[in-house]
Amino acid sequence: MQVILAESAGFCYGVKRAVELAQKTAEETQGCWMLGDLIHNTHVVNDLAARGVRKTDRPEALGAGDTVVIRSHGELKSVLDGLAARGVRCMNATCPNVVHIQELVSQAEQEGRQVVIIGEPHHPEVMGLASWCVHPLVFQGPEAVAEWVKNGDFQPEMPVSIVAQTTCIRELFESSCKILKKECTNVKIFDTICYATRKRQNEAAEIAAQVDVMVVVGDRKSANTKHLAEICRQNCSHVLSIEGADELSATDFAGCRVAGLTAGASTPAGIIKEVKTTMSEEIKSTETMEESFEELLN
Ligand code: F3S
Repeated sequence: MQVILAESAGFCYGVKRAVELAQKTAEETQGCWMLGDLIHNTHVVNDLAARGVRKTDRPEALGAGDTVVIRSHGELKSVLDGLAARGVRCMNATCPNVVHIQELVSQAEQEGRQVVIIGEPHHPEVMGLASWCVHPLVFQGPEAVAEWVKNGDFQPEMPVSIVAQTTCIRELFESSCKILKKECTNVKIFDTICYATRKRQNEAAEIAAQVDVMVVVGDRKSANTKHLAEICRQNCSHVLSIEGADELSATDFAGCRVAGLTAGASTPAGIIKEVKTTMSEEIKSTETMEESFEELLN
C-alpha cells in the first residue's frame, strides 16, 4: 500500500510570508495585533497568540502605539484607511497576488467598467476586493452570473471586467467568463486564480483520479481546502476531509491499495507530516488484519 503526497500540499508562499511577518513583528514589538484570524488554521492562530499576536475583531479600538499585521487575504479598504488615520502601525502581509487584484478592480471601475468578482461573497479576500470599488458585483459562479444577465440590470454593451478570487475553482470561473463573453460586447477577463492554487488543484485532481482513498487536510473554515475536497470528490469516490490525524481510523483504509494526501494553503507542514505517518500506520494495521484474516481462512 502506497501513500502519494501532493508536492504542493501545505503553506503557499503568501501564507508563509504572513505567518513569518507576524512572528517577527511580535518579537520586535513585544506584542501586536491581528484582525480576526491571520490565516484559516486554528493551530497556527493559537501558536501566534502564544507568541504575542493578539486577535481583535474591533480595528476601531486600535490607536497610535499599536501595531497590526494585515492578513494575506487583505483587508477592507475602509479598515486600512481608518487604521492609517488613527496612526496604527500596519505591517501589511496582504499577498501580492491579492494586491494585484485590488489594483485591477479599482482601475477598472475608474475607467467606468462594471467590476464582476467570481468568488465567495462572505470570504474576507472577496469582501476586501469588493471594498476597492463602489459598485462591484460578486457572484459565486455561473448560475448567479446567468441570473444577473437574465434578470438584473445587465446591458449587452456595458463594459465589464471580470476577476476571480485567488482560490476560485477554475471550472466556476471559466463557465462564468463563457456566459459574459457570449452576452457582453465589451468584456475584459483577468484570470486571477493564483499559480499556487492552480498547481495545488491540478495536482489534487491528478492524484485523486489514481487512488482508492484521498485525504484532504485543512481547517473547516478554509475556503481553499473546501475547494480542494470538492475537486477531489469529482475524481475519487472516497474522499476524507479532515483537520488533523486524530480524525483518521483504520476502517477508513480498509480494502484500499493506494491512498492520496493533499492539504490546503494554510495547513502547517507538521500537521501534514503527522497525517501521513498516521495514514501509513493505519494502512499497515489494516493490511496486517487482512493478512491474518486470509491466514485464518486458509
Ligand atoms: Fe497568495 Fe495564492 Fe497563497 S493568493 S496567499 S499565494 S493561495
